[in-house]
Amino acid sequence: MGRTSRKPTGIFITLEGGEGSGKTTHARRLCEWLRTQGLKVLHTREPGGTLLAEQLRNLLLDKSAETIAPETEAWLILAARRQHVDHVIKPALADGMTVVCDRFSDSTMAYQGYGRGLDLRVLETMNDWATGKLVPHLTLLFDVPVAVGLRRRQQTSSQNRLDREAKRFHEKVRSGFHALARREPRRITVIDSAQSLESVTQTVEELVMNWLKTHHAGKSRRR
Ligand SMILES: Nc1ncnc2c1ncn2[C@@H]1O[C@H](COP(=O)(O)OP(=O)(O)OP(=O)(O)O)[C@@H](O)[C@H]1O
Ligand SMILES: [Mg+2]
Repeated sequence: MGRTSRKPTGIFITLEGGEGSGKTTHARRLCEWLRTQGLKVLHTREPGGTLLAEQLRNLLLDKSAETIAPETEAWLILAARRQHVDHVIKPALADGMTVVCDRFSDSTMAYQGYGRGLDLRVLETMNDWATGKLVPHLTLLFDVPVAVGLRRRQQTSSQNRLDREAKRFHEKVRSGFHALARREPRRITVIDSAQSLESVTQTVEELVMNWLKTHHAGKSRRR
């Protein structure tokens, strides 16, 4: 699929949060639940989602990589985002699908901006350039204390380049996410992901159900 000029009609939901906060687990569960509601769903992730973007993801997460300057990291992530938006997200939205994306623009602001210290306004402009100003309709921010998230990750996943960052870096990312949520409370909802898996799942479903009732009743194409 190439560039599309069709107007997006589907719903765009992003899941955000720090390492091990539950994004991937809840993206999967949310997609299953949305399908039971009769919606056509696309589950995707960032960095990644296209062949080139997944290759960039591998480079970014490779723990044996040479030192990557914050600016280089930002350019690579945004290059991957543009591919993803053009080839996957926009065509799916134009098709009336509900797109559920594991990380998107807020991660760039939180990690490269608040975490690495890149200028937030510059990043915002660059990100607008990468997304063509595509903004999620709804963002779920999974929030856990840094130590809890890192412990959960250690128990289950192999370590990547970002796991090697100091706790202080992850704290800056977490408070960056909080700052973003304060700035855009209508789009971003903070979810206490330190609760049990089942309780967080229920919170997510109730929240999305209410959002759909209020904003999108009957607008998205059914299966
Ligand atoms: N509320 C929870 N209670 C207990 N364990 C949880 C909870 N949420 C997620 N987990 C577990 O924590 C681990 C990390 O979760 P997950 O991979 O979904 O997080 P993530 O945000 O996608 O992490 P990453 O930053 O690595 O992509 C998984 O093993 C998952 O089962
Ligand atoms: Mg994940």
